[in-house]
Amino acid sequence: MHERKDKERAPRNRTLTLSGEERERYTRNLLRLTGRIDAKKLTNTTINQDLFQILDHLPAQFVDLLFIDPPYNLTKEFGTTSFKETNSKEYALWVSSWLPRLLPILKSTASVYICGDWRSSGVIQSIIERHLVIQNRITWEREKGRGAKRNWKNCSEDIWFCTVSKDFYFNADAVSLKRRVIAPYRDASGKPKDWDQTQNGDFRLTCPSNLWTDLTVPFWSMPENTDHPTQKPEKLLAKVILASSREGEFIFDPFLGSGTTSVVARKLGRFYCGVEIDAEYCCLAEKRLAMAEIDNTIQGYSEGVFWERNSLAYQNGNSRTGNIATDQLALSLREEMDRYAK
Ligand SMILES: C[S@@+](CC[C@H](N)C(=O)[O-])C[C@H]1O[C@@H](n2cnc3c(N)ncnc32)[C@H](O)[C@@H]1O
Repeated sequence: MHERKDKERAPRNRTLTLSGEERERYTRNLLRLTGRIDAKKLTNTTINQDLFQILDHLPAQFVDLLFIDPPYNLTKEFGTTSFKETNSKEYALWVSSWLPRLLPILKSTASVYICGDWRSSGVIQSIIERHLVIQNRITWEREKGRGAKRNWKNCSEDIWFCTVSKDFYFNADAVSLKRRVIAPYRDASGKPKDWDQTQNGDFRLTCPSNLWTDLTVPFWSMPENTDHPTQKPEKLLAKVILASSREGEFIFDPFLGSGTTSVVARKLGRFYCGVEIDAEYCCLAEKRLAMAEIDNTIQGYSEGVFWERNSLAYQNGNSRTGNIATDQLALSLREEMDRYAK
């Protein structure tokens, strides 16, 4: 395995890394497929292989939810491999070389989520509309990123929500967003109108929309952070998994990266399997899975609801100091980030 060089890190940096002993231990957990395998043997595993090598070995119709976060059409290094930006036609050919081959693994009631940035999203749409029923396009605010001098800063990504048929599961109640009330309207009798007055403040549970602005891209002070360059937030996966699967159902991720899909599936009581070409990322996924056994919390999701960004103090019941505490925390984190930035 290609070992990454240890970086110098800030004292409060919580980025997950692997020791030599952990690398050896977690490598022993990884699966390599050489022929047909049944779904039982795939349950709760990480496959360390090139997706193209294993597509023909996967069983038919065992997946309830397929989450796909492929390399976008950008030049990017993923550990030992890299993806090279190309034109839309070539990118479409690449997506078409694996996407239709994943369809046989889906149950007839399955849902599929596919991620993309503004450039690859259109290409992905043109392919999936030939194979799946498109239900929606989610756009989420991606705060992290460099400003551009000659263009708008790229601050959003898309996730296409599709299903195999019109018969599918969707649980909107499981993904409500808890927001602080800005306009606390009351009815004629003085009772709060569609909001709750609690000891920790005034809150409203809002219906989940296709615009997600409550996510934080993992960074070094978050316990879920790894060195994977495009790691998705656990909160994002929690929304997808809670809305589109039941406990005990099977979730598959063909581009697993650092393991976010499998980790959140385990935390929420679903079965999972992921494929990742890079051994180091596979081991990080296994380490996160082992940690999820001990701690199944998901940042930004508690008491069965999703909380808006920067609401940790409210979630902990410290409503009066909420704003001050989160603002000061954000400030000191920003200072520390700047100090250790390359
Ligand atoms: C966008 S990242 C996924 C990140 C992931 N969602 C997470 O939260 O960490 C895409 C991943 O696909 C992997 N990958 C690229 N080509 C692959 C292939 N042919 N087979 C398996 N994995 C591949 C890359 O190594 C990379 O980790």
